Amino acid sequence: LRALATACDGLRGRTSPRLWLVTRPTGLFPAPEQPTHPDDAAVWAACRTLANERPDLRVRRLSWQRTGAVATDAHRLAAELLATGDESGQEDEIVLTAHGRFVPRHVQHARDEPPAVPARTPYILEARDPSLRRRLLWRQTTAPEPGPGEVALEMRAVALNYRDPMRANGLLPPEAVENSPLGRGLGTDGAGLVRAVGPGVRGLKPGDRVCGLVPAALASHATTAAAAVVRIPEGMSYAEAATFPVAFLTVHHTLVNQACLGPGETVLVHGGAGAVGLAVLQCARNQGARVIATAGTETKRDLLRTLGAAHVLDSRSLDFVPRVRELTGGQGVDVVVNSLSGEAIAHNLDLLRPNGRFVELGKKDIYLNNPVTLRPFHRSLTFTAFNLDAVMESPALRSRLVSVFDEQISRGSYRPLPHTTYPAARVEEAFHLLQHSRHTGKVVITFDPLDEPVLAEPAPGTLALDGDGTYLVTGGLSGLGAATAHWLADHGARHLALLSRRGPGAPGAPALLGRLAARGVRATAYAADVTDESALRGVIETVDATGHRLRGIVHAAAHMDDAPQSELTDDRFAAVLAPKAAGAALLDRLTTDRRLDLFLTYSSVSATLGNPGQSAYAAGNAYLEALTRARRGAGEPGTAAAWGPISETGYVARTGMETAMTERGLELLTPAEALTTAGRLLAAGTDVAGAGRYRWGTARHLLPALAAPRFAHLVPSSSLASPDGRDELLGTLAGLPPDEAVAKITEALAQILAGVLQTDQADMDPTRPVTDFGLDSLLGMQFLVSARDLFAVRLAPADLAAGRTLSHFARLVHERLGLPGREV
Ligand SMILES: NC(=O)c1ccc[n+]([C@@H]2O[C@H](COP(=O)([O-])OP(=O)(O)OC[C@H]3O[C@@H](n4cnc5c(N)ncnc54)[C@H](OP(=O)(O)O)[C@@H]3O)[C@@H](O)[C@H]2O)c1
Repeated sequence: LRALATACDGLRGRTSPRLWLVTRPTGLFPAPEQPTHPDDAAVWAACRTLANERPDLRVRRLSWQRTGAVATDAHRLAAELLATGDESGQEDEIVLTAHGRFVPRHVQHARDEPPAVPARTPYILEARDPSLRRRLLWRQTTAPEPGPGEVALEMRAVALNYRDPMRANGLLPPEAVENSPLGRGLGTDGAGLVRAVGPGVRGLKPGDRVCGLVPAALASHATTAAAAVVRIPEGMSYAEAATFPVAFLTVHHTLVNQACLGPGETVLVHGGAGAVGLAVLQCARNQGARVIATAGTETKRDLLRTLGAAHVLDSRSLDFVPRVRELTGGQGVDVVVNSLSGEAIAHNLDLLRPNGRFVELGKKDIYLNNPVTLRPFHRSLTFTAFNLDAVMESPALRSRLVSVFDEQISRGSYRPLPHTTYPAARVEEAFHLLQHSRHTGKVVITFDPLDEPVLAEPAPGTLALDGDGTYLVTGGLSGLGAATAHWLADHGARHLALLSRRGPGAPGAPALLGRLAARGVRATAYAADVTDESALRGVIETVDATGHRLRGIVHAAAHMDDAPQSELTDDRFAAVLAPKAAGAALLDRLTTDRRLDLFLTYSSVSATLGNPGQSAYAAGNAYLEALTRARRGAGEPGTAAAWGPISETGYVARTGMETAMTERGLELLTPAEALTTAGRLLAAGTDVAGAGRYRWGTARHLLPALAAPRFAHLVPSSSLASPDGRDELLGTLAGLPPDEAVAKITEALAQILAGVLQTDQADMDPTRPVTDFGLDSLLGMQFLVSARDLFAVRLAPADLAAGRTLSHFARLVHERLGLPGREV
């Protein structure tokens, strides 16, 4: 293919080449195509990529089943190859079978969303569409059983933390989710009733009321380490108790243990009316220190004064710097509790007096790996950051903190924080309130049986695995493969073989195995190359020798190396193709003589679309799909799930390509969504299906192949998919002189910003820096996405920083729209 493409370059100008690939029946399509030659599917998909990389070549593909009558076959083939453009239409793929000529059409099934039913069974919160358009949904599940040292809880109240909307909106970086002990699902802490205790738990029994750190707490039922919860004092409600754990553990540990806050000292806390700020007030008072707090609205400032802050300032401007100096007689403060980002950090450091302590609770600058200037540290300053996961990972520290916390709440020295409660049925409203910082203290979701009924999606199809057999996951020690290991455990697997070339030495492997072990799952990591026959045979023999014979396979191994076909060497191509295709072929061959109940392979939307730069990856994935049909044809189990890009974990998340994918119209699926879908596909006996979330109109701009009739049911016919309103606006702008066009863009941006901030457009002064309006990273993204959707121009978070004011930003949009500028 590469040679052909290069050869065509030599024809420049003289002719307009057309490239045909003719294969044997591949199995890439359902019947009437026969899955007789899955290998050919790989070449087919590599050609799909070539079609996008080199639209000038007009690449087409033909799957050709011979009838046995040579003259007839030759005639049919010639008729296709020699047809002029008009006769063959614009079809890019044609399947000639003994039954006739077929052309494929991709169809999109509505998201499988059975009618919601009142929940009588346990349910858990899931975020679908991990983006700013995400939806929250309760899904029925089974009540988790406690492992050793664990308690199973019926949740009664769960407080939201900023991490929850960030995660639901797909804004958390992978390191905040992958291998995080608290990253199992939404919700980090809460209060509930002990339903059961696991082996080795002392001091707690069913019926006890407790609160504490609880992974995946946003659920009717959850499990957590018994050592991570404490009893709720008599007379305190579940909702009150739920306001404690994260806020007070964070504040107590950072202020008392790390910053050693002492009597007579002064603490400056920003965003003082949030949960952390209010907890700082209580903790500082206990330590005999005074608090200067900032807050964004007058109501919040009033509350802080009432609750005992010594001084309260406006958080929405940097004026706090001279004010704090003034209030401290020019001395500055002893401790700063910071959650502001950017230049505010430097100002806060300057405000510290000698021996001062800076406590960083914001995450943005840390995830962005932003530097801190060291000059102020000359005054003997200390900088401390805090990550709850690190506490969870240290059982000794966790126990120490939890017991101090236990003592403080039972003595009444820490009191519940102000909070707003929402019944579980109204979880969307609760997230909304938190995201817009409209609340004071905590936002708490309650799970009271007397609350309005919760609608929960039925559990996915019943996929019951054999607890005695072993399930092998290739690529099972990282990314989606590791998530799959947990998912298999959710469905009853108790013995797992997780295979990758690095095996037990893979980063995160010990933690993964440990977490599975804590769930009562015996998972073994194997270091083997899935394309190495003797190594793979050895793994299967070892598995069988345990007495828990191999019962199923999930083939998730993949190696990525993107480059246009013209740049790829044979070795690079083979390195990407082999783990997918050769690996799958080997797994298929080495298990033909045994009864498997699962043979699931992970393909990618790339195989269907032929993503540019991914010819080898598309080839490998197409082979998996064709092999799956071949297996089904032979009466063997097989399901190939072709995923769109996945958030939170795996290659796309790890390499920071999430935004790039979204901008291409390929939105993200969470691992939970993907695996729920996998369960459905398996339960429904599906052979090959894709699952993803796509904006085809946007994808069309980058993938010329999407113009083919094959995608006619997906890609909007106008193909540019621009809403009428946008067309009209862009038309108007094109006809305006530059200054007026910029003014109109400014007006549209002010309207978007007002919508995002839920405030009056009249308050949006276009000459003020946008950050002055209280635009945090989450709302900033929302603003960018809306602006991008309206104007259809590329906009990145850095542009917002560069834009500073709405007027600046409008000029940027004007420029990117390619509208004529002002004459100078
Ligand atoms: N992430 C996504 O957005 C996405 C989207 C669509 C489809 N998928 C598919 O989902 C699967 C998992 O993707 P991911 O992003 O989670 O991948 P990942 O985190 O990069 O993991 C891939 C795993 O495969 C292993 N591996 C590579 N070559 C191997 C070989 N020759 N033998 C054995 N193991 C090998 C790697 O470990 P070693 O290096 O230690 O061998 C690694 O553990 C892949 O099949 C991918 O194509 C993912």
